[in-house]
Amino acid sequence: MKIDGHTKLAFVLGYPVTHSLSPAMHRAAFAATGINAAYLPWVVAPDRLAEAVRGLRAMENLLGANVTVPHKEAIVPLLDGLTPEAEAFGAVNTVLPRDGKLIGDNTDGAGFLAALRADLGCEAGGLTAVVLGAGGAARAVAMSLARAGARRVVLVNRSLERGRLVADAVAARYPACEVTAQALQPRWQVSEVPEIRLLVNTTSVGLHSSDPLLFAYSSLSAQIMVCDLIYNPPETALLQVARSRGCRTTNGMGMLVHQGALAFERWTGKPAPVHAMREAVAI
Ligand code: ATR
Repeated sequence: MKIDGHTKLAFVLGYPVTHSLSPAMHRAAFAATGINAAYLPWVVAPDRLAEAVRGLRAMENLLGANVTVPHKEAIVPLLDGLTPEAEAFGAVNTVLPRDGKLIGDNTDGAGFLAALRADLGCEAGGLTAVVLGAGGAARAVAMSLARAGARRVVLVNRSLERGRLVADAVAARYPACEVTAQALQPRWQVSEVPEIRLLVNTTSVGLHSSDPLLFAYSSLSAQIMVCDLIYNPPETALLQVARSRGCRTTNGMGMLVHQGALAFERWTGKPAPVHAMREAVAI
């Protein structure tokens, strides 16, 4: 990688950022497209985020930035505006410099939908889907499914109250989609959601081999597509059982790559080298 006086800069702001795969992915994208830019991890403690954003404003050679945990929501009031996606999700994962202003964008939802299409051949239109969890990822997934025309989205979460809060927020924004919440417990079965075609795990359960099962995985049947946003390990217990029962399955690598590809395209105006980006983060 050559760095000279023309090099543009991009960053991922997080705390911590040690596990981020974005630097490797974007470096590969710049190399594959011959763009003179560098992408660096920027460790920003929560109480220094406002200073970091001021730093971004001073950087005239800024290409753009990604934002990760724990800053995705905290950065919203520090920016000059939001795209409709970022506004719907209440969270920013991508910062776009536009005419001297910093605009907050969110490519997580569109990245998720692109991954569903590429990895599962799944279109959200008319679908009945279950989203396990009620955190930021669940909200982005549920919002993007509703926005893409899903017929029904059910938030299934350990805390029913948190599930309801997300369901209400999605329903308020996309009234054409029927959005409800159910309580997640070890005996929950997919048959509690008639006509379910897609199940997405957004919880952290499955990251460790000692983790409990989230629900009765043996209730999965082959016509249900299963996506686990966890990508390390590449196949969680949920995905293993789903695959053994004949379900089409995919992990979170597709969403990671496609949210990055969309950020790259919005920063550079060029098509993203998706294949090179995926190769750079293959585990
Ligand atoms: P995000 O990273 O998407 O923002 P988060 O806010 O950390 O997620 O939320 C984690 C999600 O995993 C929550 O939905 C949490 O359920 P609760 O709202 O009931 O806490 C879920 N989660 C974490 N551990 C869990 C477990 N052992 N069983 C079931 N759900 C769990």
